[in-house]
This record gives sequence, structure tokens and C-alpha cells, in this order.
Amino acid sequence: MCGIVGYVGHRPAVEVVIDGLRRLEYRGYDSAGVAVLDGGQLQVERKAGKLANLEKELAARSATGGMPGSLGIGHTRWATHGPPTDGNAHPHVDCDGAFAVVHNGTIENFEELVAGLAERGHARRSDTDTEAVAHLLEERYDGDLAAAVRSVCADLEGSFVLVVAHREQPDLIVAARRNLPLVIGLGEGENFVGSDVTAFIAHTREARAVEQDQVVEVRRSGVIVTDLTGAVVEGASYHVDWDTDAAEKGGYEFFMLKEIDEQPDAVRETLGGRLTPEGLLHLDELDMSDQDIRGIEQVVIIACGSSYHSGLVGKYAIERWCRLPVHVEMASEFRYRDPVVGRSTLVIAISQSGETADTLEALRHAREQKAWVLAVTNTIGSTISRESDAAFYTRGGPEVAVASTKAVIAQLAAMYVVGLYLAQVRGTRDADEVRAHMRDLQEVPDLIATLLERMEPVRELARALKDEPRVLFLGRHVGYPMALEGALKLKELAYVSAEGFPAGEIKHGPIALIEKGTPVVVLAPRHALQAKLINNVQEVRARGARTIVVATDGDESVTPYADHIIWIPDTKSLLTPLLTIVPMQVLSAEMARARGLDVDQPRNLAKSVTVE
Ligand code: AGP
Repeated sequence: MCGIVGYVGHRPAVEVVIDGLRRLEYRGYDSAGVAVLDGGQLQVERKAGKLANLEKELAARSATGGMPGSLGIGHTRWATHGPPTDGNAHPHVDCDGAFAVVHNGTIENFEELVAGLAERGHARRSDTDTEAVAHLLEERYDGDLAAAVRSVCADLEGSFVLVVAHREQPDLIVAARRNLPLVIGLGEGENFVGSDVTAFIAHTREARAVEQDQVVEVRRSGVIVTDLTGAVVEGASYHVDWDTDAAEKGGYEFFMLKEIDEQPDAVRETLGGRLTPEGLLHLDELDMSDQDIRGIEQVVIIACGSSYHSGLVGKYAIERWCRLPVHVEMASEFRYRDPVVGRSTLVIAISQSGETADTLEALRHAREQKAWVLAVTNTIGSTISRESDAAFYTRGGPEVAVASTKAVIAQLAAMYVVGLYLAQVRGTRDADEVRAHMRDLQEVPDLIATLLERMEPVRELARALKDEPRVLFLGRHVGYPMALEGALKLKELAYVSAEGFPAGEIKHGPIALIEKGTPVVVLAPRHALQAKLINNVQEVRARGARTIVVATDGDESVTPYADHIIWIPDTKSLLTPLLTIVPMQVLSAEMARARGLDVDQPRNLAKSVTVE
């Protein structure tokens, strides 16, 4: 999500920065910009759309001298706060144009910061959270740029990579990071920073990683890294020997594998900035009055594919927390069966791409029936977000692989947030309960990170299963939608015939599919229904199934029924989809790899399905 480049050296900075941004294009973006320092002036150019638009502007400038200078910063923006316009593109500057700032991430307390800045007379020119940083720097700067950045960072909440230039500092850019990646490129008489090594790999292969809450001073002669107190932190550089293609994938063989690993951030970012200082939820995006929320009589969720599975999990959460009936519909069916919706129906249209034709047609129909439509999408400015009454943006970052992973997990996080918010406003969960559930949710990104570190046995298992013609997935309660998701992923990626069932349903027919050795993945994290689930596992084992059980750490009650166990960290049972989904993604991707298939571009599938 977003690409960042910074350069101080002896070459034309605009060329180095644009080249770096082009190499970061794979991350996805919807606007781009650059700032170059020359003769005590920061020149800034920003443009919505693709880099080509920015380059056209830069070419037009060349008639009047272009953008000379050998210090520059650049950015490709993937919109989160405000639409992708020229004015919201980075770099952002302070009131005086003395500082230029590029930023990746989300500053959760920006509303508070912006309110304070307005009181102190700063004029805001964009919708972004980033601009607040430029104005704060203006207030804190006394000639020491790194000290000003450290002071501002200490007041920021959320996640960020910042790169800053000042018009009085011809040999210095300062960068900082929290929760998102930043790498230094070490050259001869020139140095770089970037979102990843791709940004500078054309110029140097010597790199150094920046750690959490560190600030980097980058000069032509070298770099100094400090912590937020200003104490110098020593660190080692490393040599990058990836080819350019691998570098764009961050060293991963496939984008999907990278995107699976980005899931802790996808959830963290989607949950971020949703709480008031009192720990309660605010969801201004829903754009409904409290009175209208209390008047909702039913919720209808429309979506396709994996997004439909996220919707099913949303049903369990909303029904539990809000005591409201929730119907989840495949969007392709909804439109054409004359569904019963009206003014007191909240329709939630879930779509990663925001362009899926089936979902779009379904939401148009719902709006014609006067329902209030909330889009839950990963793509700002997409058709679905524009045509809905309101939009909740997940912040999974751009997804390149056709099979959706981090966008789906971000949708799951979004469904919990929407459910809790409705419960809070309708009074079906009191403030303490909302706070407690949010605390549980906020712990999940770290649990996903822990789980990702344990995936080697799952990959081994996937290689062992690579020639299996059929795999079944079973789950109960919120495990059921995830069983559907596990089966869908395996079909999409490994072209294996896979089906997901509610475990209680298997004896009503699907058990006939079981023969000796049939792999059956059972999602069995600790849950009130676990004893019943174990009965279902015994039923399939008795028919010869080879069971692969996903279980909660330390829960030995399932071990007698498992041929293989995949342990996941403990969390509240309603939240387990955020964890059970991960090993199934890894299993499918590795089975596809082992079968020699293209993990990122499975046959016959498109990332965004714009036909009905
Ligand atoms: C997921 O891996 C699939 N590629 C597919 O099922 C997808 O979820 C579906 O097409 C819906 O897409 P959307 O979220 O962009 O609307």
C-alpha cells in the first residue's frame, strides 16, 4: 500500500525518484507525486492517476527548466483519507512550503491533531491525515530536522512511514517508521530510502532495514539511525541479490505469498482509527443517524465468492451482538428473485475490488427498493463505493494475486467492526462489552503474525497432499464459512475438487464422498460446539478419512481424532475465522506450487469480475 522513495546524491533526483516509483508500481496506487529541492526552494508536482500523468506534468515543466536538484522525495498514494485527487496526492507541505512530507500508513489520531492545528491558525488544504504532519513539523522545527521529526512521531498514533525534506537542508532527508516497512539503500556518495529495496535496486544492492520507531537521517556521505529519544542505533547492512522481478515481490516467489504475510497489517490497519478516546467505536462512514440505526429491522449482506464468505461471518457476529436478523445472499441471485428489502433494511455490499458486476447490480436493486446500502470495499472511488449510500473502506492495501487473501481478512475485520458499532448504537451491547470485544480484536494481528511463523508444517502437508483429487472442509458455526473459503481457495489455486460443509450436515449426504484416505480438513478451534464437531470427525474417520484438524493451542481433546494437527493461537471463538483462514490459504498456495501451477494467476479467473 503506497510506495515511498527518498534520494540524496549527485544525480538528478527527479529521475531517480520517478524510476523508484515506477518499480514500486506493483504495490498499487491511484495518484503520485514528487518534491525536489534546489536553490533553497522545494518544487512539488502531484497528479491523480498513473505515473504517466505525473510524468506528463514534469515534461511540461522541462520547457521552463524542469525540476533540477539532487535531493528528492516521491510517493505513489493508495487513497485512504480522501479521494485520489491531485490535491490529496503527496507530497504535502506546511503553510509556508518549507517542508515536504510523504507518508505511508494511517495516522489514527489525525482528527484530534487537525483540530488543534486549526485552532492554532494552520489552513488545511487536503483531506489527508498526512498534511497534519507537515504543519506539526512547522511548529516544532528549530533548525534540527531530525529532532522535529522525532518530536512529531512521538505524538502520532497508528502506523506510518514518513519521509521529510526541508528547504533549508540541501543535504538531508529524514525518514521514520512505525508498523510499516522502510529500507535504507546505501550507495557511494548517494543514499536512498524506500518502501522496499525495489525503490533503489537499480542503483545499489546494499541495504539496511529500519526498525520500529526509528528515525533515519540520510545525507550524501552516510546515514544516521536514532530511536525516538535521539540515541544513535547501530545496525548492519545486507547485500540484496534478488533479481528485479523477485524484488518487486519483496523476495517472494508469488505475490499471493507476500500478501498472505501482509495480513497482520491488513487487519491492524482496518481496525485502526475506529475508537474514540473513551474506547467506543465511531463509524462516521456509515452515514446513518443513531435513530435510523435503531430503526433497522433487518440486515442483508450481498457479495460474491470470498467476499460472500466474509458476509457469512458477519451474519454470526451481527446476529450475536445486535439480535437483528441477517440474510447473506450471493449477489448474482439476489437481484433476480424479487427480494424483500425496504427502508428499514441495511444492505451491506462487500467487494474487494468494488467493481464486481453481480454485486453492483444487486446494490442498485436494493437502492431502488429504498434500502440503505453500505459498501465494504478495499478500493476507494470504486463504482460500488460511489453507487452506495455510504462506504466503509477496508485497508488491506492493493492486492495483486487473483486469489484474495489480505483483502478477505480485512473484510472479516470490517464485519466485526460494523457488527459492534450497530450493537453499540442499538444498545444491545454495553460500552464495557464493546471495549472488551475491540481489545480482543486488536490482539488478533499479533496472533496472525505468530501463526504465520508456524506455517512450514502446513506447507509440508500441502506437498504431501499434492496429488489428491478431492479434499473436504468441515466447520461449525463461524467455522462453516471458513470451510467454504478453504474449499474455494483450493479449487481456485490447485484445481482440486474441494467442498466445504457445515460439519453437522455431512451425515445428510456428503459423507458418501468419503473413501479410504480422503483428506478432510476440520476447523475445530475451541468452541461451545466442539464436542458435536468431534462426533462429526469421528463419523468421517470411521469411513476412512484422513483428518487434518485445525485446533487451538493446548487443546489436547482433539488430538485423538487427528491424523495431522495445525495449531492456532487462542482467541475468542467468534473471532477464530481471522486465524483459521490463514493455514487454508497457505495449504492451497503450496498445493498449487507443488503442482507447478501459477499461484498468482490461476486459469480462467480474473481479479475483478465486471460481467454478470
Ligand atoms: C477470491 O479468491 C476470488 N478471487 C473471488 O471469489 C472473489 O472474492 C469474488 O470474485 C468477489 O470479488 P470482489 O470481492 O472484488 O467483489
